[in-house]
Amino acid sequence: MIDVLLGLQWGDEGKGKIVDFLAGGYSVIARFQGGPNAGHTLYVNDKKVVLHTIPSGVFQKHCLNLIGNGVVIDPAIFKKEVETILPLCPDLLDRLYISQKAHLIIPTHRALDAASEMSKGAEKIGSTLKGIGPAYMDKTGRNGLRVGDILSPSFEEKYQKLKNKHLQLLGQFEQVADWQQWEAPFLEACAFIRSLKVINAEYWLDDLLKKGTRILAEGAQGSMLDVDFGTYPFVTSSNTIAAGVCTGLGVAPSRIGDVIGITKAYCTRVGGGPFPTELEDSTGEALRAAGAEFGATTGRPRRCGWIDLVALKYVIMLSGVNKLIITKADVLDGFNPIRAAVAYSIQGKETSELPYDLCVAEIEPVYKDYQGWSKPISTCTDYTDLPVEFKEYCDFLETYLGTKITHVSNGTGRDQILKKP
Ligand code: GDP
Ligand code: IMO
Ligand code: MG
Repeated sequence: MIDVLLGLQWGDEGKGKIVDFLAGGYSVIARFQGGPNAGHTLYVNDKKVVLHTIPSGVFQKHCLNLIGNGVVIDPAIFKKEVETILPLCPDLLDRLYISQKAHLIIPTHRALDAASEMSKGAEKIGSTLKGIGPAYMDKTGRNGLRVGDILSPSFEEKYQKLKNKHLQLLGQFEQVADWQQWEAPFLEACAFIRSLKVINAEYWLDDLLKKGTRILAEGAQGSMLDVDFGTYPFVTSSNTIAAGVCTGLGVAPSRIGDVIGITKAYCTRVGGGPFPTELEDSTGEALRAAGAEFGATTGRPRRCGWIDLVALKYVIMLSGVNKLIITKADVLDGFNPIRAAVAYSIQGKETSELPYDLCVAEIEPVYKDYQGWSKPISTCTDYTDLPVEFKEYCDFLETYLGTKITHVSNGTGRDQILKKP
């Protein structure tokens, strides 16, 4: 069976830290979607590492790591990431596998992403500008280049053909990024990828699954950024929900085991788009400061607000989440009350269903308030030590969401995680 780990909000729920922790119990960690728009933070011997394309299991020596077909890879960013991590993880390349069917982000994809965002003006998505949208567009438009193409003798020819197509499109925009500077590093990084373990990953996974190997699929972004079910059009361009695992790795639905969902004890969003429980006041600022809420990939300040149980319940339904992990519980120390949105009020009518378009619906969250606590959470070493008020809050979350909380994360450190009895 293959277990799945997903972010349940708008990304940055702490997936990197949790995958690194859970990887102790798995032999393979596999990324199935997204690309270098992701920034997964973990700490290795107190050193902060941010992973973008490489799965978060690399620092567990026994773990093999797969970049699946559903991922889009920017070769230059990937090569740089490998160079940063190699000193900390000398055997990285022995344990890193790449699906030959993963699509490539080429320099002009990035230029198209930037030009498209610029042309949207105030309506812009707030993309990480890594070329994600244009690369997935070429994939579904059947024009894309794949990792397997790098191995072909006609790769340069295929690359030029796609680039020329992009140049025609770029001709429609007034301002175009200086993509030429990215071309030499791109081609050099493609040559580097040729020397790596580029595999027929769906057969590889099938063999491992038949042997009973424990595999964890690592999600990127969050469920509310899913291209079908998120806050469209303010979403990313892939399926971030559990269904994405089947297409992003080539595994059958019947082989999916546990679906583990990660949520912060509050909520954040980076980039544009609706966020019903956003706090544009001093409490929001205090959450940002306490949680160090600045983007791991772009450094942008993250928008902060209270936990949104209407949205969480929705995505738990979409993915069949059966285990919940709450992160950043320690950040709520000192806040009083702690609020949780349990319904939306839209034009005076209460609903616990997500409306079709969160952008146009005038949503007033309906909150349930919880008592704050005075004992710091970050120093607790056992779930039973946690403040009673926080444990009551967790019990309420479990009941409302109908899903068992298995762990509470109470700090950035690898060992700052408490198993809930
Ligand atoms: P990801 O994209 O889901 O992997 O999350 P990011 O790495 O983008 O952002 C999560 C941030 O929260 C990182 O800086 C983590 O080091 C940090 N973090 C993770 N878990 C906890 C926690 O329980 N408490 C605190 N204070 N920080 C955490
Ligand atoms: P991790 O894996 C948070 C957001 C961007 C933007 C929208 C579209 O670290 O949780 P894109 O670059 O995909 O075209 O951007 O999605 N976004 C993320 N927000 N965490 C992420 O990844 C994100 N990846 C994309 O800010 O609003
Ligand atoms: Mg992140």
